Amino acid sequence: MMNDSTRKLYIETYGCQMNVADTEVVLSILGDAGFRQTDRPADANLILVNTCSVRDNAEHRAHQRVSELKEYKRKNPDVLIGVLGCMAERLRVSLVERNNLVDLVVGPDEYRRLPKLVEDAYAGQRGIAVKLSRVENYDDVTPLRTDGITAWLSVMRGCDKFCTFCVVPFTRGRERSRTLESIVQEARGLSERGFKEVTLLGQNVNSYHDGTYDFADLLTAVARVDRTMRVRYTTSHPQDMSGRLIEAMATHDNICNYIHLPVQSGSDRVLKLMNRTYTVEQYLRLTERIRRAIPGVSFSTDIIAGFPTETAGDHALTVALMNEVRYDGAYMFKYSPRENTKAWEMGDDVPDEVKNERLNEIIALQEGISGDLNRAMIGSEVEVLAERDSSRSADDLLGRTDTNKKVVFARGSAAPGEYRRVRIDRANAHTLFGTLITGAN
Ligand code: SAH
Ligand code: SF4
Ligand code: F3S
Repeated sequence: MMNDSTRKLYIETYGCQMNVADTEVVLSILGDAGFRQTDRPADANLILVNTCSVRDNAEHRAHQRVSELKEYKRKNPDVLIGVLGCMAERLRVSLVERNNLVDLVVGPDEYRRLPKLVEDAYAGQRGIAVKLSRVENYDDVTPLRTDGITAWLSVMRGCDKFCTFCVVPFTRGRERSRTLESIVQEARGLSERGFKEVTLLGQNVNSYHDGTYDFADLLTAVARVDRTMRVRYTTSHPQDMSGRLIEAMATHDNICNYIHLPVQSGSDRVLKLMNRTYTVEQYLRLTERIRRAIPGVSFSTDIIAGFPTETAGDHALTVALMNEVRYDGAYMFKYSPRENTKAWEMGDDVPDEVKNERLNEIIALQEGISGDLNRAMIGSEVEVLAERDSSRSADDLLGRTDTNKKVVFARGSAAPGEYRRVRIDRANAHTLFGTLITGAN
């Protein structure tokens, strides 16, 4: 067995922020076992891919990456390759038993066993651990984060909603929450290390409950940790968005005025088939209520095009809903059938070209709406948390507004981690461009 100084881990992460946060848990657990991270797969003796199953193309990409990374094993047989995350739950048979493709397959609730599984794998055994847990929440594992401005903080795991299209309840298991106390403590640690923004994460954070406290309590407690640290959260299910939660957002200045509120479809018939448990009218009433309580709040959403049996009429209702809400942003997807889900049994009757047409139409519509909303901000002054150098030019900084809009501006005297006032000069659907207002903070 190699000694600690030679243990190098290379890890790639796909999928949602939960996976990004989990990778930090994995780095912490394997760090305790002597592994140091490298960003060069050629230097690593352990290569891990943290995977996503949500749509077929996500799984394709992971398969492709695993095959590519296997090259390093071909060159050096001592290298171990492992698949983590949501695909581990779905595909262990084809990954290991059938294709002999990888040495390790470890699901999202089994990361504590990684050090042992890695040892076993070096000893020639194949390491498979894919049990889902009702209790594992890694409450006591401090994720290994590199210093920075913004951090992810996972507050719960799993999902009990069982939307009929979705694999997450199968790949992540039952809903379970960490304790408020340990989350607040972690947030305090982030503040002490100079982080300026924390995003509380869960597939459906609104149903957070640790036995004593709910999500409104948690959000309030985290907001109190450090008034100069912004607090965001994702994702909300419209059904569980409580009045107390809206009130908490309205009350605390450092809770950002931005809500990701996936709607999925604008047709009640389709929403019902999706098991989303709300109607369009209820959803619209909710957004209106939030807008009244939190003036200037911004919304984003997720929409699926081409769910089984979706008609042109259903699609038109989705278009109408988008025109009504006027989201600041939207993530839009083509329906992808997932084995074992309820929707899988409904067939996949919307032809691919129709799905593409509908998807392209809503993407174009959203581009227009986002562009209009952003251009309406030209001339206004916004507060921006500067996050990092802009990818376009080292002279520019990139930051975000409280409402989660990206802002690029000439850096002047500003540095990442600072809150600065910026006047918006120009905008497109994705970014605002502005000028630093000097002499102000
Ligand atoms: N828990 C979150 C997000 C889950 S996955 C929520 O409830 O909103 C993120 C998004 O992927 C979903 O909101 C949905 O729009 C999309 N998605 C999930 N399963 C899908 C599938 N089978 N095909 C296409 N899009 C899907
Ligand atoms: Fe999937 Fe629905 Fe749970 Fe979101 S709420 S993770 S879409 S089952
Ligand atoms: Fe993908 Fe798993 Fe997240 S399926 S979206 S990585 S919970």
